[in-house]
Amino acid sequence: MTDPIRSLEARFYTDPQVFRVEVEGVLSQTWQFACHLSDLAEIGSYASFEIAGESLFAIRGRDQKIRVFYNVCQHRAHQLVSGAGITRVIVCPYHAWTYELTGELRAAPNIRAVEGVDTFDICLTEVRAEEFLGFLFVNLDPNAAPMEEWFPNARAELEEWLPHWKDLKPLEWVEIPENCNWKVSVENYSECYHCALNHPTFANGVIKPETYDIQPQGRCLRHTTQCQGLEDMTYDIQSGYAHHDAYSSWFLWPMFSFQVYPGNVLNTYHWRAVDADHVVVWRGWYSVGGVEDLKIRQLAAQDRATTVEEDIHLVESVQRGLGSRGYRPGPLVIDPCGGVNSEHPVMHLQRWMREGIDGVPFSADNNQ
Ligand code: FES
Ligand SMILES: [Fe+2]
Repeated sequence: MTDPIRSLEARFYTDPQVFRVEVEGVLSQTWQFACHLSDLAEIGSYASFEIAGESLFAIRGRDQKIRVFYNVCQHRAHQLVSGAGITRVIVCPYHAWTYELTGELRAAPNIRAVEGVDTFDICLTEVRAEEFLGFLFVNLDPNAAPMEEWFPNARAELEEWLPHWKDLKPLEWVEIPENCNWKVSVENYSECYHCALNHPTFANGVIKPETYDIQPQGRCLRHTTQCQGLEDMTYDIQSGYAHHDAYSSWFLWPMFSFQVYPGNVLNTYHWRAVDADHVVVWRGWYSVGGVEDLKIRQLAAQDRATTVEEDIHLVESVQRGLGSRGYRPGPLVIDPCGGVNSEHPVMHLQRWMREGIDGVPFSADNNQ
């Protein structure tokens, strides 16, 4: 008899020291969602955001290229921009050092008085960025492999499922703060062993639960299923595109997921870890041109009232339980045949998390 694979020990979800190590080993070394490209439509438009505790901003250059920089002046470290907007050059609010949209220093008051400074050598620090179906992703690791290696075929598949992706813009962001560790929320998203009991709309809706499966595709977890009862959908799914009668999703480790509903309707999840026991989840809903679309609004409202609401109670209960002295990590229910009642995706997530942090030293006083 081999020992079953057990869920991670509770401290991985509750210990602030583990969270700090994850920021180094996972969040700073993976592809993270930054913003939607519709926020950066014009030359000089910028958007700031935070990843792994770092303030960053993306800006569109005169060459139309989008660059991402650490949001810090190379003079004495003041923050450069906040929020989003449009500008001709980037001017630091502290002493007015001025940078081109390419990040090069253009001017600094009285800098000529200083011998030995070559302003051409001074440049904002750039961060790896990739555009992916209208979404901007960044990776703080300068040596990170491209997204295609992390998530093989995901881009090509999504282009096929969303042939109109270039026209899609965000219509609604639904913000969902959860009192739990980010991994509790992501693991819950990545298994459907809990669905029959907790999501009546899932079990009795268009998805055929017995055909639901989640399989790794590199560091993507791909959800597939057959559908049923499509004639009872509350909206017209005849988009004229392939896959209009299907459902699938692509979870990109560690914190983003593209979901495509029947009718080629895109919606997304993205997570931002706040600390060891808080995460914020956003549900993104999109329409052509970002124009008002009652069908999408209704889907967003129904999803918030059902699946999202049901999951909040589950993940917050789990987080409380992880703080209990009485919890011993149980075996994951891994069915070699996969399927809806198997927790193999949780096993993959927990391995990926351990791979990220095992190389990062804990501080001396908490070494274990
Ligand atoms: S810190 Fe930015 S100009 Fe001085
Ligand atoms: Fe759920």
